[in-house]
Amino acid sequence: PEPADVVAPEAEDIPELREEAKGCRRCPLWRDATQTVFGEGPENADVIFVGEQPGDQEDLAGKPFVGPAGKVFDSILDDAEIDRRKVYVTNAVKHFKFEPRGKRRIHSKPNAGEIQACRWWLDKELDLVKPNLVVALGATAAQSLLGKAVPITKMRGDVIEREDGLRVFVTIHPSFILRIRDREDKEAEKERFLQDMRKVKQLM
Ligand code: URA
Ligand code: SF4
Repeated sequence: PEPADVVAPEAEDIPELREEAKGCRRCPLWRDATQTVFGEGPENADVIFVGEQPGDQEDLAGKPFVGPAGKVFDSILDDAEIDRRKVYVTNAVKHFKFEPRGKRRIHSKPNAGEIQACRWWLDKELDLVKPNLVVALGATAAQSLLGKAVPITKMRGDVIEREDGLRVFVTIHPSFILRIRDREDKEAEKERFLQDMRKVKQLM
């Protein structure tokens, strides 16, 4: 056969793409992580939520947003009357990056090269799901989706239209809420995130 017949066919749906991503070696992050944590949700979803990268619990479970940040995310989606089962949820980077500290694994930020390498998968998810709206949860997701660093606190709540027409809604990462110690500040930030999610519901 001609060489073109020998190469692996392009994944035609999300389950095929998820299968391919299990063996990804596009950056070094696969080495220390447990598994690829791929996106989840219906292929005909109107909206895709993009986080940063799986955390400790996601790495073990193989599913996005199931740990503490996922709990915050779920509860605010619920308050905004967005059904998580009807949206597609994924991450900019699909392997957990961490530093070992004793028995614990401490989250470490993916760098620009890792974000760029893993964008390969996010682009394919966008192609297959074809959402009306993408929500960038925090700086890493925004950087991956927009191809440059954007100031989240300044841009939050804005919709940015990419050259390909895709609309990107920028907001904070739910783990930002988790890290706030002061109770009043935490409640205020939760409320702002809820307002953002209500806007998302209108836009999707
Ligand atoms: N934080 C993320 O960005 N993604 C997850 O899946 C979990 C925590
Ligand atoms: Fe591949 Fe992304 Fe994992 Fe890097 S982080 S190995 S690009 S799936």
